[in-house]
Amino acid sequence: MGMVHKIMEFIIKSGNPEKQRTACLIVGIIEPRRLTGAAKAIDVVSKKLLSNLVRRGDIDGKLGQSLVLYNVPGMLADRVLLVGCGRERELDDQKYRKIMENSIRQLVQTGATEAVSYLPELNIKGRDVHWKVRQAVEITNHCLYEFNEFKSKKTREKKSLRKLVLTVPSRRELPTGDAAISEGQGIAKGARLTRDLANRPSNVCTPSHLATQAQQLAKTYKDIKVKVLEQDEMRKLGMNSLLSVSAGSAEPPKLITLEYHNGKKDKKPIVIVGKGVTFDTGGISIKPSQAMDEMKFDMCGAAAVLGVMCAVAELGLPVNIVGVIPTVENMPSGTATKPGDIFTTLSGQTVEVLNTDAEGRLILCDALTYSERFHPDVVIDIATLTGACVIALGKVATGLLGNHSPLINDLLAAGEYSGDRAWQLPLWDEYQPLLDSPFADMANIGGREGGTITAACFLSRFTRKYRWAHLDIAGTAWLSGLNKGATGRPVRLLMQYILDKCSK
Ligand code: BES
Ligand code: MN
Ligand code: ZN
Repeated sequence: MGMVHKIMEFIIKSGNPEKQRTACLIVGIIEPRRLTGAAKAIDVVSKKLLSNLVRRGDIDGKLGQSLVLYNVPGMLADRVLLVGCGRERELDDQKYRKIMENSIRQLVQTGATEAVSYLPELNIKGRDVHWKVRQAVEITNHCLYEFNEFKSKKTREKKSLRKLVLTVPSRRELPTGDAAISEGQGIAKGARLTRDLANRPSNVCTPSHLATQAQQLAKTYKDIKVKVLEQDEMRKLGMNSLLSVSAGSAEPPKLITLEYHNGKKDKKPIVIVGKGVTFDTGGISIKPSQAMDEMKFDMCGAAAVLGVMCAVAELGLPVNIVGVIPTVENMPSGTATKPGDIFTTLSGQTVEVLNTDAEGRLILCDALTYSERFHPDVVIDIATLTGACVIALGKVATGLLGNHSPLINDLLAAGEYSGDRAWQLPLWDEYQPLLDSPFADMANIGGREGGTITAACFLSRFTRKYRWAHLDIAGTAWLSGLNKGATGRPVRLLMQYILDKCSK
């Protein structure tokens, strides 16, 4: 199994629109009825074609509008795609991303296999050429992604886009643009791997499958070393909490670690830990059947770890990074853990499992204790942990909690820059008593109130020995409905965090 994606090619250029020989030229129109620089150049050679269109109201520049023109006089391009950019004053990161996305969706509709886009020349407050080009590369790759491993007919109806030229205002910016393309392509490759793994059904994407995929990464990138712990080794170590979750499943659990050392020898590593529940039925505390299929996505944290390791290795970044993936299937059966059962975690603390559906924290706590052995600089865990997070933040922001504010601020900033944004929730001591248990050191649930926070409180009891942050991606890792599928989040956020670290 494994899907060969056609790799999109990106090229940086600078030059006049009327001189571009291409299947499609993409230029922006600004609200109200104003031409961008590139549009003005086309207007001149086409004897006012664009200003006439705009004056007659065929397009007035609103965000979301677009218009394809053929046979534009004076142009070497087969088509010109006009894209509405909204008001210039309101142009910000989110609008730029939306404009880019709209342009790619319209471009794909035309069937053009290559194009030249002038949209990176838009002015975005506080953003430079590097940012605009990298965003363009990431968004284009994101929009063109398809998951058809399990479709008999693999091809789109239209011919697909192969090459996109991105323009910069002057030749001086060509090297910046080239570097941004490489970075964007590396990140996109990681995000693609994350999406492919997450989209695979749970009968294919088992804990063993994730282990094989990790080993595959180590084969592709010689800088990545992989180790897979099996059930008996975990039992010997005392990872009873992790094993209590897989007790009801026929699939053997795995603890996967990936190490990439390419930074200074004595530099402590960034450790990223990803929840890898390949299917979450809830166990004996079984979930309602409504949309239960989506619980195949309960390994999106694990998939993000593999995606980040892939992107870091692909870019050859000068960092030390360790990925840790506890992976299990959560099933009800005669051997499954029952509500009220008590286990001793790897840390020595005992847990009363009041709800077998709060299983993510039970595998993460042992993986977090295990992470101590890497003497981490920081530990970041990534998990589709709580339905409460979807209620609190919707599908827009990832939940962020932790015990070290500089780390949290770095992650918030990386989210802003990458557009893969997170929002902090409080991890105050007042929430901790909600986890009290009459029979063990703690319960694995804290009741309905503040569900995302009490889940993080639980984890915080296993992360006292290092700086730690927790990303709850329950809302952001996948979409339901018409665009159902994995989003690849938070690979872009984490990659930006790592890139920022490299340049510090
Ligand atoms: N994987 C789920 C969280 C989840 C639910 C993510 C829905 C995305 C959508 C997690 O294992 C879980 O079941 N959490 C419970 C915890 C509760 C029992 C304390 C939840 O959120 O309901
Ligand atoms: Mn669950
Ligand atoms: Zn779960």
